[in-house]
Amino acid sequence: MSNIKIADIKVLISEEELQARIKTIANELNNLYKSEEVCVICVLKGAVMFAVDLVKYLSMPLTMEFIRLSSYGSGTQSTGKVNAVDIKLPDLNGKNVLIVEDIVDTGLTAKFLLDFIGCNFHTKSTKFLSLLDKKITRKTDIKPDYYCFDIDDKFVVGYGLDYNGLFRNLRYIGYADKSLL
Ligand code: IMP
Ligand code: MG
Repeated sequence: MSNIKIADIKVLISEEELQARIKTIANELNNLYKSEEVCVICVLKGAVMFAVDLVKYLSMPLTMEFIRLSSYGSGTQSTGKVNAVDIKLPDLNGKNVLIVEDIVDTGLTAKFLLDFIGCNFHTKSTKFLSLLDKKITRKTDIKPDYYCFDIDDKFVVGYGLDYNGLFRNLRYIGYADKSLL
């Protein structure tokens, strides 16, 4: 059980800032892919809000896939092991693939996924887009091709991101003082 209440959560990135930046990134992707078809892979559960909002502003033909990975049990630290809860994907050979993730922290999840796609398919292109980039805690040499916001070493919640399963429904990205976690 979490002892954090919504009132303890401070806004780090507001709903307006999120939506404005997502529109800007979507425009960059529209310019990149033009009218080429793209397969958008949403990494559940955390990237669900971001992926759903992003695709509304994309103008190329696209398909959506949803896979589920986990690396955090409960709590605020990566276990260091990526668990592929559900990674069934269609044939991605020859496709433009855009992976959409909530946050790159240690980078282990991103590395696992890029290796998995690289080993199983010859895609036309593979790009990694993350809503948040927490560079300070990186343990791999992974860099997202695109990200919306850089954050420092805070455990964040909201807009898909959770603490023990809670707070995914907030419309903003927030954080609680470390003493409460
Ligand atoms: P990584 O494998 O360490 O890069 O972590 C990636 C996953 O850990 C993300 O997809 C999130 O689900 C989770 N995660 C990392 N940092 C945070 C955070 O600050 N808040 C909530 N979830 C996080
Ligand atoms: Mg995630």
